Amino acid sequence: IKPISLTTLFEMKAKGEKIAMLTCYDASFSALLDTHHVDCLLVGDSLGNVIQGQRTTLPVALDDMVYHTKAVLRGLYTRPTSRAWVVADMPFGSYGTVEDALHNAVKLMQAGAHMVKVEGGAWLAEIVKTLVQNGIPVCAHLGLTPQSVYQLGGFKVQAKTEEAAQKLLEEAKILEQAGASMLVLEAVPMHVGKMVTENVHLVTIGIGAGKDTDGQVLVLYDMLDVFPGKKAKFVKNFMAGQSSIAEAIDAYVAEVKSGVFPQPEHGFTGA
Ligand code: KIV
Ligand code: NA
Repeated sequence: IKPISLTTLFEMKAKGEKIAMLTCYDASFSALLDTHHVDCLLVGDSLGNVIQGQRTTLPVALDDMVYHTKAVLRGLYTRPTSRAWVVADMPFGSYGTVEDALHNAVKLMQAGAHMVKVEGGAWLAEIVKTLVQNGIPVCAHLGLTPQSVYQLGGFKVQAKTEEAAQKLLEEAKILEQAGASMLVLEAVPMHVGKMVTENVHLVTIGIGAGKDTDGQVLVLYDMLDVFPGKKAKFVKNFMAGQSSIAEAIDAYVAEVKSGVFPQPEHGFTGA
């Protein structure tokens, strides 16, 4: 088994082989998800919501991300041949300047992450460039960026107008030019997920962005129906009809790979 690399991910995009990603915060789940062929694990700052019980991701600290990233990597090390690609979120306030971004991304990489993720558009170009120059692969995140929830006026679908969709594409291209490799698209109309994916070299991973992104991601505790709170429209309960977590993970990977998930009912339309 070959570990997944950036090269593998670009090859998967080129071949149209869908990438299955889930969030992961601990060693038991990372070993399980890796065993069940989840391609990418995201140590998401959604751990603020589902692990810490916060209302938003804003209170999550860099040390929290380091702690969970280390745990996820230890779970992979228990396997003789792990293959998952591990992305760690840079938390709110940890990449406001180039200096902070580099200092904090180094901590996540030293905790074992293979790539870091940052939320935002063109303003991140210089930061992305510096991280990549330092050998740190970068995943960008556009659309609904939860760290900006107060600036956005709530957890709302983004890029609903043609103008906003074009602006999102421009930002994606700027981040690509800066050296980013991957792009999470969250809560954008389905046709925007498709349009961006077709017009960038970035590997796109959708969450509420329709079926045409290069891959899909969900919050693990949402798709296992563990999180008790209100769930977004794009969440599907993969435990339904399954008798174990392992079976639910298998169903998720199979449905992402075959294009069965997501369905239009999990997506949004434009203005
Ligand atoms: O933190 C997270 O789980 C995320 C995904 C929802 C993309 O950023
Ligand atoms: Na996140």
